[in-house]
Amino acid sequence: MKIAFFNSKVYDREYFLQENTHHHHEFRFYEPHLNHQTVNLVTDETAVCVFINDCVDAQVLNVLKDKGVKLIALRSAGYNHVDLAAAQRLELPVVRVPAYSPYAVAEHAVALLLTLNRRIHRAHNRVREGDFSLHNLIGFDLHGKTVGVIGTGKIGQIFSKIMQGFGCRVIAYDVTPDPDCVQSGVEYVSLTELLTLSDVISLHCPLNDETFHLIDERALELMKSSVTLINTSRGKLVDTKAVINALKAQRIGLLGLDVYEEEETLFFEDFSSSVIQDDVFSRLLTFPNVLVTCHQAFFTQEAMGKIAHVTLENISQFEHNGVIQNGVDYPS
Ligand code: NAI
Repeated sequence: MKIAFFNSKVYDREYFLQENTHHHHEFRFYEPHLNHQTVNLVTDETAVCVFINDCVDAQVLNVLKDKGVKLIALRSAGYNHVDLAAAQRLELPVVRVPAYSPYAVAEHAVALLLTLNRRIHRAHNRVREGDFSLHNLIGFDLHGKTVGVIGTGKIGQIFSKIMQGFGCRVIAYDVTPDPDCVQSGVEYVSLTELLTLSDVISLHCPLNDETFHLIDERALELMKSSVTLINTSRGKLVDTKAVINALKAQRIGLLGLDVYEEEETLFFEDFSSSVIQDDVFSRLLTFPNVLVTCHQAFFTQEAMGKIAHVTLENISQFEHNGVIQNGVDYPS
């Protein structure tokens, strides 16, 4: 098939071109995000491949349908950026990559936790400047601490096991507790208990109506003032303004974020020579106890290989067999 890749980066090209030696599709790589203007870059492509910060609303889908596009292939697991009702009306199938590497995300959550706790980022800068003092670099033993995991699906379970390996007590909250987790020693508790008891809290649940601003002012008030909060899941799980207030009041020990509420306009792009217009984000970066990475938790060689492999398999299955593999369910 002729495939239009939007929002494509050098690393996307590398992994997709390598994987395409097994498929022989024709690629057009477009750097801009897909949106109401850039949709006109599509000419005769029959599949469109997009990432999480592309705009796939009804207007864009209408144009794509008119241009003869037959398939929307998401190179992500999440699909909250796609207007599925419009896709259904237009009879445009949407396929995705349900899981690429839960280890990548769980391990990045641990990386944020360890870096923050032992001030590795600050120590690195200090040593490079010839400052070998230890002031303000003190951390805490993870061994014996209580770690609260919100969402014990694929990623939350791996994170829990790693934390158990550190000698932590792992407690969890999930709308659907998993018997395997109980078997491995994870204790399910209520959300209130988790927020109250945990020294470290890590978010691994999806973003939906129920979990929007799960970490709000009330939740923050329940936490220990020394809490370490890690979010590698979705930015909108956390009310950023409430978190900033809590940071200012010194009611959060450490904060590690790989995702941010308004990340669509910032992440994955190089703004190092521009003025950042998002004052809330800029304020976050001023705290010494906050560490932000830009949605890179998934970004390992294994995950990129799997994303390219599954996406091209999805497209080939559709082209050769008319099969919608890893299709996103339309709303009922
Ligand atoms: P999963 O579907 O395997 O697990 C999600 C878990 O959350 C399930 O056990 C589910 O029962 C639970 N859950 C649902 N609603 C809940 C609620 N209201 N309260 C508590 N728990 C709830 O998903 P997986 O693969 O573990 O991914 C988790 C999240 O990680 C994804 O939703 C996504 O937002 C994020 N993610 C982040 C990436 C990154 O690069 N930063 C990459 C991939 C995923």
